[in-house]
Amino acid sequence: MAITHVAHKAIRTHFQHRPLEYAVDATCGNGHDTVFLAGLTSKRVWGFDVQSAAIKATEAKLAAAGLEHVRLIHAGHETMRQYIDQPVDCIMFNLGYLPRSDKTITTDADSSLLALKQATELLNSGGLISLLCYPGHDAGAIETRAVQSWLNTLDPQHWQVTHHTAREPKPSSPILFVLYRLTNS
Ligand SMILES: C[S@@+](CC[C@H](N)C(=O)[O-])C[C@H]1O[C@@H](n2cnc3c(N)ncnc32)[C@H](O)[C@@H]1O
Repeated sequence: MAITHVAHKAIRTHFQHRPLEYAVDATCGNGHDTVFLAGLTSKRVWGFDVQSAAIKATEAKLAAAGLEHVRLIHAGHETMRQYIDQPVDCIMFNLGYLPRSDKTITTDADSSLLALKQATELLNSGGLISLLCYPGHDAGAIETRAVQSWLNTLDPQHWQVTHHTAREPKPSSPILFVLYRLTNS
């Protein structure tokens, strides 16, 4: 199964028996994750991307699917707290660059860590953050290491983190982290 589908499966399973009202796609890209989230979320989704091509592609996919409860924001996810002032249930990060596009426009360690910190502040207890990292390119390798160090700072009393990768992983294999905010936090 593609690792993006593993992320979708983790989210679908987690919210099978609990409400998913508010969600964030921190990296809209071609809009696949935004459409996926919008299909599961009952009240509102916010989607961020720094590229207008990504925002347009996502807008078109949402329109084709008839999904209207999404606010797309052409800005970096490190600004998410300027746009969202309420708790949310689920936040997806699919880091890296837009496939078949300019590979220099990629997420980077500093802004991703800023965004992740904000994501942990916004997430409801019982909520979930999915975080897909791509160590197979230079910026992605630096970012993945920074993310792994940051994950080690999370308090295990409040967070459970699982990770998923290829069955026979190489150093370049994508890694999915799923962060569950425990209900007693
Ligand atoms: C791997 S793609 C995302 C794939 C997407 N979720 C999908 O379903 O198609 C990563 C995206 O992150 C975007 N990006 C880069 N830096 C960003 C930032 N600081 N904030 C938000 N998005 C960013 C890129 O423009 C790119 O579209």
